[in-house]
Amino acid sequence: MNTRVADLPVSARGRSLDLPREPAAEAAPELVVVIPTYCERTNVEELVRRLRKVLTGLRWEAIFVDDDSPDGTAQAVRGIGRRDARVRCLHRLGRRGLAGACIEGMLASCAPHIAVMDADLQHDETILPRMLAYLREGSAELVVATRYGGTGSIGDWSGARASISRSATAVSRLVYRHAVSDPMSGFFMLKRALLEEAMRKLSTRGFKLLLDILATVKRPVAIKEVSYTFRARERGESKLDSVVVWDFAMLMLEKLTGGYVPMRFVAFSLVGGAGIALHMGLLALLLRLAALGFPLAQALSAGGTMVFNYSVNNVLTYRDQRRRGLAWLTGLASFMGACSLGAVANVTLATLAFEHHVPWQLAALSGVFVGAVWNYAMTSRFTWGKARAAG
Ligand code: GDD
Ligand code: MN
Repeated sequence: MNTRVADLPVSARGRSLDLPREPAAEAAPELVVVIPTYCERTNVEELVRRLRKVLTGLRWEAIFVDDDSPDGTAQAVRGIGRRDARVRCLHRLGRRGLAGACIEGMLASCAPHIAVMDADLQHDETILPRMLAYLREGSAELVVATRYGGTGSIGDWSGARASISRSATAVSRLVYRHAVSDPMSGFFMLKRALLEEAMRKLSTRGFKLLLDILATVKRPVAIKEVSYTFRARERGESKLDSVVVWDFAMLMLEKLTGGYVPMRFVAFSLVGGAGIALHMGLLALLLRLAALGFPLAQALSAGGTMVFNYSVNNVLTYRDQRRRGLAWLTGLASFMGACSLGAVANVTLATLAFEHHVPWQLAALSGVFVGAVWNYAMTSRFTWGKARAAG
């Protein structure tokens, strides 16, 4: 039975009871700096050193969100955290993705002001206090560190990269109305209330978190900009490869369709469309050049197309759940199984419609559509298992 305080002799109550007292609670941080990392072991120590310097006198914390980098970034961050409790590591397993990492880091803190910045020292940390000042004084809910406004600059980028970045920035204006000169910036600060307003509608895939926030929040938002010069990366490598162009296109499509059409389904269907073209090409080759009989040629083309669709979806549509090694093979088997059933559904429905005097084009299209939805539904569940949970 529990001993109640009232049952104890007076001398044993409260402080005189020889129990260790709870240490004084630390005041909560006012600012959290969320830093996504993938293979940045060589940069984290220096970044923390710079944050300490520039944020002196503030109550801050840094949350590094690491996607299980093979170079040991997470261990390095925990090592710093053992000496400085303001530094924490959110270590994610089995997942990849810049935007999703940032969102999880933001949600793991209770600080009212949230900054997001890269770990590779390309973002100029010395502007953080000015960004915070805007949020504190209430003149902004969102502060964007810009390379394109004021005295900002993209530093020494190649002409090609600069023009790609500029055109993407121009195209992105289709999906939001706010006055922002650098919507693709990976460096910004916002009030927690703004995050909470947007968070359930944000895409966890892709890498354009700021653009997504701008497109999601339709009401006028008080925004300030602080310009800076984007530095060159000195250590480690950039992770944003050419596939980001595809991710960007998908995010734009999702936002333009009001978020009602799942981005993955669009991607899956585009890959399927390319697959149809491939199937016809293969079939023509096998019939004409290899002089195979139609059934064999058709079966081989269908098989080849499935392997193509699977591989491309694995890299583009499900990049964050990408299957490798043995899992690549078992995934292929389940993909082919699901798609074969999809083909049966397609042909059955189209035939039924055709027999009920639906024009052949429409009958065929309805079969294709139902087959595509089936394939998508089945493979998102069974081939790329965790896909649904990840959104
Ligand atoms: N957790 C996690 N998961 N972090 C990642 C991932 C990932 O899958 N991919 C990249 N990062 C981290 C990197 O470790 C780095 O700290 C930061 O995200 C930016 O990645 P970089 O690879 O350095 O990107 P960049 O320099 O090419 O692009 C930057 O500039 C773009 C504008 O041109 C980023 O700030 C982009 O967000 C920005 O749009
Ligand atoms: Mn970088």
